[in-house]
Amino acid sequence: MTAENNTTPHYEFSEKYDPEHARKYFHKHNTGFWRRLSTWREVGMARKALVMAGRPSSVLDLPCGTGRFWEMLAEEKDRTIYVGDNSQAMIDAGMDLRPKPVTARIKKTFQCSAFDTGLPDNLVESVFSIRLMHHIEKSADRILMLKEFARISSDTIIVSLWVDGNFRAYRHQLNEKKKERMRGVNFPRDRFVFTRSDIESDFSAAGLEMIGHVDFIKHWDKWRTYVLRVKRGNQISLTAFP
Ligand SMILES: C[S@@+](CC[C@H](N)C(=O)[O-])C[C@H]1O[C@@H](n2cnc3c(N)ncnc32)[C@H](O)[C@@H]1O
Repeated sequence: MTAENNTTPHYEFSEKYDPEHARKYFHKHNTGFWRRLSTWREVGMARKALVMAGRPSSVLDLPCGTGRFWEMLAEEKDRTIYVGDNSQAMIDAGMDLRPKPVTARIKKTFQCSAFDTGLPDNLVESVFSIRLMHHIEKSADRILMLKEFARISSDTIIVSLWVDGNFRAYRHQLNEKKKERMRGVNFPRDRFVFTRSDIESDFSAAGLEMIGHVDFIKHWDKWRTYVLRVKRGNQISLTAFP
């Protein structure tokens, strides 16, 4: 069953994840002290978020990219793990390059758009979505994606994105203004810092309740992982009302 939507939003950044980019992405995040430290912290945040979500027994990692979180997701021995991404090349790189005992834990992979996955209602207990939402500029598109996550999750949604109210967000906005002055205001951006009030009202518009959040480094860094609950009364099957 799929969400009925003939106008799936299209974002240009989604097109760049070809086989070459996929291999580079895998190696980039596995090399260098700072990158490894950053991944270590991100994995820690995600682990904490999953505990906050009640240690879900089934998870869909969407977008999974090249599988940075698979080993951590597999730490729960009985967890069923599904993974999906818009780019088959990213999925393939992860399946080729991650250790076999980790990839063996993945029940199924899906090449799909997070706006319209084509997956069944309530497929998993939790949809786990790291480093995608900060690319989605329009609030209406974010709500559409969150509603799709709510349709395929029976309980929780975990999303990471950039929020304001910290030093790195402040510095990012200053740099963006500088770049706009140099390149012209129409220079396209593909990553965005959201105000906490805006993103939290998107959650509520999508029928989600906030359980909590984990910050990368409080007051310093802009990465935040939110843990959201699908409000049971509001859980609407989009496919049930054609
Ligand atoms: C920055 S990577 C993050 C991957 C992974 N979550 C991680 O943190 O390593 C962004 C991923 O989003 C995927 N992507 C882009 N647009 C998408 C869409 N509309 N639906 C699903 N995945 C998408 C890309 O193919 C890419 O693998």
